[in-house]
Amino acid sequence: MDVRRSVATAMLVVLFLSCAAAGTLKQRLEVRKHLKRLNKPAAKTIQSPDGDVIDCVRLSHQPAFDHPLLKNHTPQLRPSYHPEGLFDGGKTASRRGGMTSTVSQMWHLNGRCPEGTVPIRRTKRDDVLRASSVKRFGRKRHGAVPRPKSADPDLVDQSGHQHAIAYVEGDKYYGAKATMNVWEPRIQQPNEFSLSQLWVLGGSFGQDLNSIEAGWLVSPDLYGDNNTRLFTYWTSDAYQATGCYNLLCSGFIQISSEVAMGATIYPISGYGASQYDIDILVWKDPKEGNWWMQFGNGYVLGYWPAFLFSYLADSASMIEWGGEVVNSWPDGEHTSTQMGSGRFPEEGFGKSSYFRNVQVVDGSNNLRAPEGIGAFTEQSNCYNVQNGHSDDWGNFFYYGGPGKNPNCQ
Ligand SMILES: *[C@@H]1O[C@H](CO)[C@@H](O)[C@H](O)[C@H]1NC(C)=O
Repeated sequence: MDVRRSVATAMLVVLFLSCAAAGTLKQRLEVRKHLKRLNKPAAKTIQSPDGDVIDCVRLSHQPAFDHPLLKNHTPQLRPSYHPEGLFDGGKTASRRGGMTSTVSQMWHLNGRCPEGTVPIRRTKRDDVLRASSVKRFGRKRHGAVPRPKSADPDLVDQSGHQHAIAYVEGDKYYGAKATMNVWEPRIQQPNEFSLSQLWVLGGSFGQDLNSIEAGWLVSPDLYGDNNTRLFTYWTSDAYQATGCYNLLCSGFIQISSEVAMGATIYPISGYGASQYDIDILVWKDPKEGNWWMQFGNGYVLGYWPAFLFSYLADSASMIEWGGEVVNSWPDGEHTSTQMGSGRFPEEGFGKSSYFRNVQVVDGSNNLRAPEGIGAFTEQSNCYNVQNGHSDDWGNFFYYGGPGKNPNCQ
């Protein structure tokens, strides 16, 4: 009896161990295959001080061209139209007495990519292993887009995403621009994130929502650290099967050899100290229909081809600007993950985070002040937003907050 039972037990153990080994082997092969897809052969490699490896990949070898519909695509090397506006280039003379400065990317300290290549942050094995699955790596979860006029408090609690945003809707939009203050918000749990971005949205929040997003974020899950990084995102089906961050799937076509998506932005603003901000412009090329993105004063990063989208193939129906965090309710209480600077709007310049020169692109390809701009937040005691207007800053707002505090538990 005893012998038989222990033999049976031993056989079960062997069965279990071999299943587990097969599981990890399968996973390891899957991860290796995925890395091979993402990391293209480099013409030059630059080691960034923050631990990132930047690969300078020939433009025509970037991940976008793995897309079946881009196999024979000739990349557009510049947009055929560029929107004109009030706060462009030299006209941004009054930066509050020189109190704000434009930022760059950390890897620039150790080199630049040659012409004809694009800098791509190399994805490491650990980056993929931190994701819940290879398939989820580089993707947002559902429920990430703030929906101002229909906030159902129960829904808010479930998805865990919290926002403090300014927005416009009710027109056709062909782009959006803003100058965003850059901070490094503290993240309480590694599976939470804090970001500041603009959303270019098409559709009506159904399963086919189209979204183009760009800004900065801190995401320990995605990057393995607490650095503030430049990012883009796109989806044509409400974050289900299409889209990803940066170049982590085929879609976005990068043309810039200067700016790497997902790279650390630096320097960062300090409380009551120097303030830094970045310009982001996303607009639709009226000739080719592609959606372009520009970072800073003239770095044209590249474009999302129009065919990736349904609604956005025509125009956007809503634009949003602001912050988002994930509250995972650690220990049943509200997270203390910060949004923006971690301070409320009342504190103002140098303390609270801002967006300024908030503009939209209209049907005549002009940048203009958004009309009827609204503000939205799910729980103003946790994170809040406050709109304003001035000659220097055009439409602006302060946003953010500390999360957990006596009024937000
Ligand atoms: C990120 O910040 C959290 C808390 O703010 C800290 O616990 C964690 O160790 C940091 N992670 C890294 C990789 O620095």
